[in-house]
Amino acid sequence: MKTIFDIRQKIALVTGSSQGIGLTLAKGLAENGAITILNGRQADKLTQAADRIQIQGYQIHTSAFDVSDDNQVSAAVQTIEDKIGPIDILVNNAGINIRNPLEAYDNTDWDQLMNTNLKGAYLVSKHVAQYMIMRKRGKIINICSMQSELGRKTITPYAASKGGLKMLTKGMAVEWGQYHIQVNGIGPGYFRTDMTKPLWTNPDFDTWLRNRTPAHRWGEPEELTGPLIFLASSASDYVNGHILYVDGGLLASI
Ligand SMILES: NC(=O)c1ccc[n+]([C@@H]2O[C@H](COP(=O)([O-])OP(=O)(O)OC[C@H]3O[C@@H](n4cnc5c(N)ncnc54)[C@H](OP(=O)(O)O)[C@@H]3O)[C@@H](O)[C@H]2O)c1
Repeated sequence: MKTIFDIRQKIALVTGSSQGIGLTLAKGLAENGAITILNGRQADKLTQAADRIQIQGYQIHTSAFDVSDDNQVSAAVQTIEDKIGPIDILVNNAGINIRNPLEAYDNTDWDQLMNTNLKGAYLVSKHVAQYMIMRKRGKIINICSMQSELGRKTITPYAASKGGLKMLTKGMAVEWGQYHIQVNGIGPGYFRTDMTKPLWTNPDFDTWLRNRTPAHRWGEPEELTGPLIFLASSASDYVNGHILYVDGGLLASI
């Protein structure tokens, strides 16, 4: 039965989906009937990830490219459009974090982080939007963070990149809304992945987070799927430039 949340047979590209939140988001899209393309920098790792979530009936493809490399992004988007079909849904999820006090931050690390988290989302969106603009439809969802709103010691460059991604989301919504393209963000709270391992293995941080979050717990990556389906489906056709925080209430409390 068709509902307003229907994404069956839509083609969805999820960047940075060889593991972690991206892989869970990709699985959620595939579970709901989307033709889903996994991305990361390593082809072998992507094949293994696809094998792990390949359940009978799921339509999964892989496309290895580095989101920060314009030539790779351009070639990959064109190949997907030619060989798989029109990209209806783009999830800009690829991201890294490199922790260090700002006064000791390595400039090469700054460049790598910005190129992945901010320039990567710009590049992939720009190439995919060329096609979405021609078709006058599309959904782009940028994976933001609590650090789109809040600073925290040792991750200032990450916060700068995620704050930038929030404004990139609003800017793209303003520029491309006229083509019936909706660009929104999801801001996850704290989820246990490789990226946050230094946090969830630290008992002091674990206690602080549970006390700080009204839900008194970490998020489960599957809890991001519902918000994603909403933003990827026609249920959100008049929602544009919005960041939906999925954080157990963390941002609402002091
Ligand atoms: N975990 C959390 O609590 C949390 C909270 C808020 C926001 N987020 C955001 O959610 C996203 C996913 O985080 P995660 O925790 O799932 O991290 P993760 O487990 O470290 O996964 C990161 C993914 O990004 C890919 N990636 C990194 N650089 C890439 C590049 N240049 N090109 C293509 N793919 C690249 C990695 O694949 P390869 O290494 O195979 O290339 C991997 O699949 C990030 O944007 C992160 O900032 C996470």
